[in-house]
Formats: sequence, C-alpha cells, structure tokens
Amino acid sequence: MLLIVAFIAFVQGSSEGGAQAWTYNHSTTPNRRWLEAREWCLKHFTDMVPIRSREENDFMNTVLPFNRGYYWIGIGKEGEKWVWKETHERVPKDAQNWASEEPDNIEAQDCVEIYIKREKDTAKWNNESCKKKKGTICYTDSCTKDSCSTNADCVETIGNYACRCHPGFLGPRSIACPPLLDPERGSHNCFHPHGSNRFNSSCRFHCELGFQLVGVSRLRCQASGRWNHPAPLCRVERCPVLNPTSVGAGSLNCSHPIAPYSYNSTCGVRCDEGYEHSGPDQIRCDLIGQWTASVHACTSKVTCSPISFPATGNVTCVNLDAPEPFSFGSRCNFTCQEGYHLTREDTVTCLASGQWSNPTPTCAVVQCSSLKAPPHASMQCHDPLGKYSYGSICTWQCEEGFDLIGTNVTTCSSQGNWSCALPVCLGMATDDEACCHCSFNSAVLSPVSGFLQAKRCDPIDPPHGSLNCSDPNGSFSFGSVCTAACDEGFLPNGTAGPECTSLGTWSADLPHCLAKTCPTLSSSSHGSLGCSDPHGEFSFGSRCTSACEEGFLMNGTADTECTSLGTWSAHIPHCLAKRCPAVSSPSHGSLGCSDPHGEFSFGSRCTSACEEGFLMNGTADTECTSLGTWSADLPHCLAKTCPTLSPSSHGSLGCSDPHGEFSFGSRCTSACEEGFLMNGTADTECTSLGTWSAHIPHCLVQLWFTVHVSLINCSHPYASFSYDSHCDFECNEGFRRRGTPTLTCNNSGHWSQDLPTCQRESSQYLQLPFVMLVFKRLIQCQSLQFLSFPHASCPV
Ligand SMILES: *[C@@H]1O[C@H](CO)[C@@H](O)[C@H](O)[C@H]1NC(C)=O
Ligand SMILES: *[C@@H]1O[C@H](CO)[C@@H](O)[C@H](O)[C@H]1NC(C)=O
Ligand SMILES: *[C@@H]1O[C@H](CO)[C@@H](O)[C@H](O)[C@H]1NC(C)=O
Ligand SMILES: *[C@@H]1O[C@H](CO)[C@@H](O)[C@H](O)[C@H]1NC(C)=O
Ligand SMILES: *[C@@H]1O[C@H](CO)[C@@H](O)[C@H](O)[C@H]1NC(C)=O
Ligand SMILES: *[C@@H]1O[C@H](CO)[C@@H](O)[C@H](O)[C@H]1NC(C)=O
Ligand SMILES: *[C@@H]1O[C@H](CO)[C@@H](O)[C@H](O)[C@H]1NC(C)=O
Ligand SMILES: *[C@@H]1O[C@H](CO)[C@@H](O)[C@H](O)[C@H]1NC(C)=O
Ligand SMILES: *[C@@H]1O[C@H](CO)[C@@H](O)[C@H](O)[C@H]1NC(C)=O
Ligand SMILES: *[C@@H]1O[C@H](CO)[C@@H](O)[C@H](O)[C@H]1NC(C)=O
Ligand SMILES: *[C@@H]1O[C@H](CO)[C@@H](O)[C@H](O)[C@H]1NC(C)=O
Ligand SMILES: *[C@@H]1O[C@H](CO)[C@@H](O)[C@H](O)[C@H]1NC(C)=O
Repeated sequence: MLLIVAFIAFVQGSSEGGAQAWTYNHSTTPNRRWLEAREWCLKHFTDMVPIRSREENDFMNTVLPFNRGYYWIGIGKEGEKWVWKETHERVPKDAQNWASEEPDNIEAQDCVEIYIKREKDTAKWNNESCKKKKGTICYTDSCTKDSCSTNADCVETIGNYACRCHPGFLGPRSIACPPLLDPERGSHNCFHPHGSNRFNSSCRFHCELGFQLVGVSRLRCQASGRWNHPAPLCRVERCPVLNPTSVGAGSLNCSHPIAPYSYNSTCGVRCDEGYEHSGPDQIRCDLIGQWTASVHACTSKVTCSPISFPATGNVTCVNLDAPEPFSFGSRCNFTCQEGYHLTREDTVTCLASGQWSNPTPTCAVVQCSSLKAPPHASMQCHDPLGKYSYGSICTWQCEEGFDLIGTNVTTCSSQGNWSCALPVCLGMATDDEACCHCSFNSAVLSPVSGFLQAKRCDPIDPPHGSLNCSDPNGSFSFGSVCTAACDEGFLPNGTAGPECTSLGTWSADLPHCLAKTCPTLSSSSHGSLGCSDPHGEFSFGSRCTSACEEGFLMNGTADTECTSLGTWSAHIPHCLAKRCPAVSSPSHGSLGCSDPHGEFSFGSRCTSACEEGFLMNGTADTECTSLGTWSADLPHCLAKTCPTLSPSSHGSLGCSDPHGEFSFGSRCTSACEEGFLMNGTADTECTSLGTWSAHIPHCLVQLWFTVHVSLINCSHPYASFSYDSHCDFECNEGFRRRGTPTLTCNNSGHWSQDLPTCQRESSQYLQLPFVMLVFKRLIQCQSLQFLSFPHASCPV
C-alpha cells in the first residue's frame, strides 16, 4: 500500500542564514500510536519533539496545521513522574503546560498530546492513552560533530545553534601567552597541548649546576593569556663572605669568576713573611655554596730570646697577632725611671731571623754639669747616685764679710739641670752706687756685670699693631707701660695698657689686634667658593673666588675681598645655566622638553615625535650640553612615500601631492582614453602606512562592438592599413549590415566607401556608437600610415 506522506518542513527564519538549526517535520498521514510515532521519528529524524520550553511549545502551535486527533509529544509517564522520554529527565513543574483539569484521572493515559490550534486550551497538554492514533512531530538536530571546532560545545537553539568555547579558547584558536625565555644560566622545556605557548602549555625551568632557582619552577599558560607566575631566575650559589682579617698576618687573594664569594670563587691564603698556616693554600666555593675548607689564621714561625728587664726601668711588649710572647713582629718599648735615661733606642722588634732589631738598652743616671764654687765662697756637695748626678745637692757659704746674693743650695734635676744659678758673694762696701736706686724685690743680679738691674718683662710685639711704651727703667722693664695701636683693618681687643711689675710679669693680658670680619659668604647654587683667610675666616684680607659647575656661566665677578671696612668688594656672582638655541617642533611633528635649569638651557632634554603618516629622519632625542649646544639636530618629519604610480596603458593619471610626489596624502585619479573603459577604482590615496588605498585601474578597450560586428577581416599587401588594404565587414546575428561589405584603401589615402553600420534587425535605430568607435580609429591609423609610406604617390 502506498502511503501518501505529506511533510511540511519548516525552519524558523534566521537572519544569519540559519540553514543549521533545529528543524521540525510532522506527519498526519497516517496518525500513529505513540510508540509507532516515536519509532518513525527515530528512524527518519533525530527524535520526537520533546517540548523543552514555552518558546518551543508556542512555536509548534504557530507552525503546525490543525489535526483532528492533535499531536503526540515526547513526554511520558515513568513511575509517578512525567519525564522527557528522550533523556528520562523529569519535567519540572513549571515547565508543564497542562490544559485545565488535566492530567485527568483516566487510567493508562501515560502519553501526552498537545492541542495544536484547539479553540479551548490552545497549545496545552493532555495525558492520553498511548494506543490512540495522533499526528507525529519530529525534530532534527542541527548540531553535528563538525558544527564547532574541538574545544567548543555546540548548543542547540530554536532555528539556530551556537558554539560555546571551552575556557582558554577563543574561536578556533586557543589563547596565547607571551613566549618564555631561558633564564640566564638556566633552561626550560615546555609541554604544549594546544600549540606553542597556548592555553594549558606548561613549562618547567632548570638551572645549571651551582645555580639556584628563585621563583616557581613550573609555569602554566592561563585562560587569561598570562602565565600563572613570573618566570623564575637562576641565582648563583653564594658562600659566606670571607673576612680578610681572619687570616691574621697574611692576605687573601680571591678570584670571583661569577660573582663575589659565589660558586667557583677561589681564595688563596698567603701569610706574611715569618708566618705560616696549617690549612690548604687555596679554597673554593663549591656548587652547594660551601667553602671546600675553612680559613686558618697565619701563625708565627720564629721567636726571639726573652727580654731582660732593666733594674731602673720598665719594658712593655706588644705581640702583634701572635699568641706567643717575643715572637716574630713583637715590639718592646723600654722606659727608664725618673732621673735615668736609655742608652740606646727605646724600641726593639723581633725580626724574622729570630733576632731583636737592636741590642736591648739599659738605663743610666742623668748627669748635671760640673760645678765650681764662685769667688769668696766654699761649696759642699752630697752625691747619692754619682758626682753631679740626678739627686746631687750642693750648698755654698760666703767668706766672712761677704753677703750671699741668691740661693745657698742647688739640686741636680732629673732633666740634668741645676735647680738654681750660682750665687754671688758681695762685699758690703763695693758698688754702693750701683744699688742705691735698686730695690731687691724688683731686681736681679746680672751674673756678667755683677750690677743690679731692674727686672725685665718678656718683650711684647703685638701682631698687626704697633706699641707705644714709656720705659722709666729700660725697655720692657719694671715700670714700663705699653699701649697698642692696631694696623688698618684690625681692631684692638684687650686692656688699654699693661704694666711691667716688680716680678717681671705684665700686669694684664697683652693687647691683641683682631682683623675686622666681613659677613659670612656661601656659594651660589651650582657654584663653589674657595677662600684664603690670612687673618681668620671671612675677615679683613680674606679673598674668595667663585667658580661655576660645568654647564653654568658666571654672571658677575669671580673674586671678592674683605676690605678694611669689613665689607666685601663685590657680590657673590650667580651661576646661570648655559643656554642652547631655541628649538621648535618639526613641521608635521611635535616636541616635548624637560627643562631642569630653564627653557632650552644646559640639562634640557627634548624629544620629537612625528604625526601619523610621517617618518622621522634623524634622532628623536636631543640634549642641551654643557657647551650650550644641542647634542643632536632636530629631526625632520618626512611624509611616508608610496610606490611610484604610472598611468595604465590608454589611461592618464592626475595627482595632488600635498606632502611630495607619491607621498602620504597624495591623491591620484585615473582616467581612460575615449573608447576605453575603466576596470577598477578611479581614485587612490597614499595612506599613512605608505601604501595605496587602491590599485591603478586598467583601461580596457570597449569590446562591445563585437556584439554587433563579428568579423573584420583585413588584408594588407604593402603595409597595415595602407594603399590597397582590404577590409571585410560582417554584422553579428540579429544585426543587419547597412553599406558596402568591403572597404579598400585607395591611393589618395581614403577608404573607397563610407563605413558600413550594423543595425538591430528588430529595431529602427542604428547601433552607431560601437561601430563608429572602431572605424574611426582605423581611419586615423591609416591616414598616418599612408603619409609616411614612401611609395604612396606611386600606384603599383
Ligand atoms: C523534512 O523537511 C525538510 C524541509 O522541508 C525536507 O527537505 C525533508 O525532505 C523532510 N524530510 C523528510 C524525511 O521528508
Ligand atoms: C493522567 O495524569 C494523572 C496525574 O498524573 C494520573 O493520576 C492519571 O492516572 C493519568 N491518567 C492516565 C490515564 O494515566
Ligand atoms: C587544562 O588543564 C587543566 C588542569 O591540568 C585540565 O583540567 C583541563 O582539562 C585542561 N584543559 C584543556 C582544554 O586542555
Ligand atoms: C692572586 O692570584 C693570581 C692567580 O693565582 C696571581 O696571578 C696573582 O699574582 C695573585 N696576587 C697576589 C697579590 O698574590
Ligand atoms: C666552575 O669550575 C669548573 C671547574 O673549574 C668548570 O668546569 C665549570 O665550567 C665552572 N662553572 C661555571 C659556571 O663557570
Ligand atoms: C711598668 O709599666 C707598667 C705599665 O705602664 C706599669 O703597670 C708598671 O707598674 C711599671 N713597672 C715599673 C717597675 O715601673
Ligand atoms: C713605643 O714607642 C714608640 C715611640 O716612642 C711609640 O710610637 C709606640 O706607640 C710605643 N709602643 C708601645 C707599645 O708603647
Ligand atoms: C742657707 O741659708 C738659710 C737661710 O737663708 C740658712 O738657714 C742655712 O743655714 C744656710 N745654709 C748654709 C749651709 O749656710
Ligand atoms: C677679646 O678679649 C676678651 C677679654 O680679654 C676675650 O674674652 C675675647 O676672647 C677676646 N676676643 C678674641 C677674638 O680674641
Ligand atoms: C647678570 O647680572 C646683571 C647685574 O646683576 C643683571 O642685570 C643681568 O640681568 C644678569 N643676567 C642674566 C642673564 O641674568
Ligand atoms: C635624512 O637626513 C640625512 C642627513 O641629514 C640626509 O642625508 C638624507 O637625505 C635625509 N633623508 C631624506 C629622505 O630626506
Ligand atoms: C576587471 O578586474 C577584475 C579584478 O581585478 C578581474 O577579475 C576582471 O577579469 C577584470 N575584467 C576584465 C574584463 O579584464
């Protein structure tokens, strides 16, 4: 039996040409039981329509025709639950669309129909006996294996589908991370599941021996296009830094091929002369950051004989760096008790030879000069440590009738001096005159003349001034009074005038002449100041010289001097940054400057940039140097050039060039000769990338006449289109020729007849333009040819 099956397939309109979409086919011839209907759907399509959304439900009602038995849908009862038969998923309560009072309580109604286009309960559901026969609605999936690329899921929608990328993928390509570089002194290797440095690529880093990885060793390219950690570094293994003093009397000689005190660093230990050490001569920093051995201190090899202490002295020894006394380098200092002196040098050193540098000294008693009793005196001495030696005491006694002037006892000091000068024994009668004006309080006896003299004070001579003294008993003697006058530029400080007293001392401090002071100076900014101060800082006579730093010019006088008035002869000058010539931005460009010391001055830095479409010729950066010149000329901005254009054959080209021929901004317009058609764009423009916006179009000959004239057959016995050339013409099908079929070139350079024309058979008007075009060109060509033909006037 022949089933007449009428299918209506419908595709929901989709503006994106939704050929791939859920499509629905339905059948009502015949109506089927639910199971047969499902089997039929599974056989021919994907499955029975499940009605998964309100949208789909309403769509069915819109597109399906009314069927008296209504239609089955892919929902059924399993246990006590309504489920989508295709997946056995439960239909949620709010997705159920039952007609009023449905599902009713009629037994064995485990299948569901939809009331398509029913007046009451339109498009609602009803549970029905699965044995009833109803219309069938099937659907076909539009998602196929190839709908989306791998790494994406195909999602069905009504009338369309969408590809949803897995995380880390964008379209058919995965996200890329920036490529990683090997760390210095290390390497990395990667596993790329989706291509080089793409999503989920993972890279593991390793360092060379002796280097330590700092950071995370394994990186993964994330969906964000970034690595999950920064790339790690390889850092050299470090050993503890060695202290050069730890070797004592020696030195360390280290070489560091990689970094200070790091892997492969070696240190040699060298002891000073006379010292030795027990460890190896060289140690090395190994690849785990440990020295191959520890550093031992250098110890002395030799000792000198013990020092004997002098009886009247002392000795102190310093044992340099050596634990043993009297070892190499030990120094001993000898001192003597008061009244004794050393016989040799006070210091001895233990030499590398094991000998002391000098014989050890001894302490000898200090000697005073020998004494003789003055005239008319007797002398007695007590010498505990030797004649006229430290500690000796001598006493004098004058003869009868003589008075002793001075002291009657003197002692030999530890410095080898007698404590008192020799006394004099004076007879009462002698030289009364000499003493009559003298007071013993204020006079000493001259040991030379034996006369009394007024006591003298220390002579005074104040610097930078002059003295004015009244001297009743001789200059700078008892009774002298002095006043000071200061030189120009100096001021007196101190009491007006001291007096020389009877003790031979001045009654007051001596007067000072102090230089006048000028105000304190400081150097100007970017400058320095150097002063010479003969009489004190910033005082009379001080001279200061200013200087400016490199790149700065002095405005003012370099030198100034503190005058006798306490003022400076000139102001401190200013240091002004040297100026460079003013610059302005290049045409079609811009200029940005930083000016630490003023516009276009020493230290200014300017950077140029060009507008889009312009290329910089020259250096972008320039700096005002300390010489006041620019380190580089300003660059020019040159318009980018496009390739040279030439008009196409049978065409012409007109260009406007605002920035130079065939350069950025140039606009060229092509035109074709009469009879030629342009294929392409007439206008083209040189873009900021230096390329033309469009190619030069071609001028193609108008071939339309061949539509009408199918044959132009010419023979040229002498030369083309010359005397005796014949041309035959024929019109295309559908056109009729008007005029002679053959033209001959005569000896006057004209064609024998007028040009033929082709006329459309059905039409009244001539297709003149096409035919004329070709023939006009022929005549012109022919005429020129003929005139240049040497035998033109000679008929053959
Ligand atoms: C389903 O409908 C489509 C669209 O009208 C049609 O091309 C196709 O032949 C139908 N399928 C069957 C099995 O009739
Ligand atoms: C229709 O659905 C109701 C509710 O699930 C159920 O009680 C009744 O038995 C169903 N009718 C049939 C015939 O299965
Ligand atoms: C990316 O890596 C994660 C973790 O290793 C894995 O779970 C996931 O399946 C991978 N995704 C792809 C697309 O490779
Ligand atoms: C340090 O060691 C290098 C190489 O061993 C040697 O050439 C150099 O002379 C040494 N320098 C000193 C000061 O000992
Ligand atoms: C460290 O020294 C060893 C032996 O001298 C040498 O083979 C190695 O290349 C050195 N390593 C580096 C990183 O310089
Ligand atoms: C020697 O000198 C030391 C240190 O100055 C001092 O302590 C000691 O008393 C001196 N000995 C003698 C005998 O002067
Ligand atoms: C030894 O004497 C010298 C010179 O007098 C002095 O420079 C040095 O410091 C002294 N040394 C000691 C240990 O007193
Ligand atoms: C020295 O002079 C003092 C008084 O000035 C006197 O007491 C003493 O006895 C005199 N000594 C001798 C040895 O004359
Ligand atoms: C000037 O004299 C006074 C008093 O004697 C003293 O205190 C002061 O230090 C002197 N000034 C100078 C600059 O010597
Ligand atoms: C230099 O100093 C003079 C006098 O102080 C002043 O007039 C002039 O303006 C200064 N020049 C500059 C460049 O500042
Ligand atoms: C760029 O500058 C250099 C040096 O000033 C000059 O020789 C060259 O001709 C310039 N280039 C152009 C394209 O103007
Ligand atoms: C006109 O140009 C287009 C594109 O360059 C080309 O495909 C076409 O063949 C050209 N037409 C003729 C008649 O040459």
